[in-house]
Amino acid sequence: MRRQQVAAAAGAARWRGGGGGGAATAWWWVAAVVLGHLVSSARAGLLESNPGLAYNFYQKSCPNVDSIVRSVTWAQVAANPALPARLLRLHFHDCFVKGCDASILLDNAQSEKTAGPNLSVGGYEVIDAIKTQLEQACPGVVSCADIVALAARDAVSYQFKSSLWQVETGRRDGTVSLASNTGALPSPFAGFNGLLQSFAARGLNLTDLIALSGAHTIGVASCSSVTPRLYNGNATNVDPLLDSAYAKTLMNSCPSSSASGTVNLDGRTAVKFDSSYYTNVLNKQGTLASDAALTQNAAAAQMVQDLTNPIKFYAAFSMSMKKMGRVEVLTGTNGQIRKQCRQVNSS
Ligand code: HEM
Repeated sequence: MRRQQVAAAAGAARWRGGGGGGAATAWWWVAAVVLGHLVSSARAGLLESNPGLAYNFYQKSCPNVDSIVRSVTWAQVAANPALPARLLRLHFHDCFVKGCDASILLDNAQSEKTAGPNLSVGGYEVIDAIKTQLEQACPGVVSCADIVALAARDAVSYQFKSSLWQVETGRRDGTVSLASNTGALPSPFAGFNGLLQSFAARGLNLTDLIALSGAHTIGVASCSSVTPRLYNGNATNVDPLLDSAYAKTLMNSCPSSSASGTVNLDGRTAVKFDSSYYTNVLNKQGTLASDAALTQNAAAAQMVQDLTNPIKFYAAFSMSMKKMGRVEVLTGTNGQIRKQCRQVNSS
């Protein structure tokens, strides 16, 4: 266990705390962060061999990388509370398509970002701003893929003022980005088995599926991702896995099958990164059909129940983010370190 992180967690608790209520907050928060780091350190190594990543990979080559990424990310999140969700999803969509290699950032014709599931992905400008600063501090050293992983962590961690999970670095950037590869992303209309298969294809298991789905505790979905659960053409036709009162809430935001707005993924605490997502799912108030699908398997439903506990959620999320961050990474001399995140280096 790294001492600075415990100290940082305790510091965060003090920052959040204050009076007697603060002391209670401090206890569970420190426990959650410590447990998360412990479990992710101890178990991720056992679950999967390390693909060549390391903590502090840039210790000698770019010692200020962590503080540069954090300061740019926190400044942008302070001005735009939608960014934690965007950056977290950006990292997920990067890792699931040809691995965590920043291929989602490339701007060429027919690239990944032009594909349907990526049209509502954002946060690219934050990555550009971070890259600009890093190129000034340490030219040609820090990969765009690592920036995406670090920015996701820092954006989500902003509300805690302390890192919620540890990020390994040493990824290198890919040179291929094709919209046709995005079929690897899971569909919001997938059933339980489809979701499990999609994760298994990336080396992720049931625990990872349940833990990472907790990312839907923040952010929004387009009405088009939800309306098939509410309407059949012009008729109301509510998904039986959807609570009727919550269905009405969703219908208010998306009044017809062709509505174009957005809904919060977590109807309780939309911008707080907490475990209420799991309570929603148990109460048939998960927003996407894929959220509801997690109750359709006994083992999965038990895990959903377990992760309503915030301490367990943060621990499980930390561990699974570390695994997701290892998916098909390029390391060593593979790939390249892009000079600009939106285009491959001209040799
Ligand atoms: C389990 C399979 C998953 C499916 C089917 C899925 C699907 C979706 C869909 C359809 C949306 C809304 C997009 C839109 O309508 O515009 C969304 C949003 C989001 N997803 Fe997932 N997702 C999954 C897993 C994940 C994972 C593993 C993460 C991250 C670790 C994640 C993070 C997010 C976030 C943060 C948002 C909100 C984005 C924003 O507000 O900009 N999702 N997801």
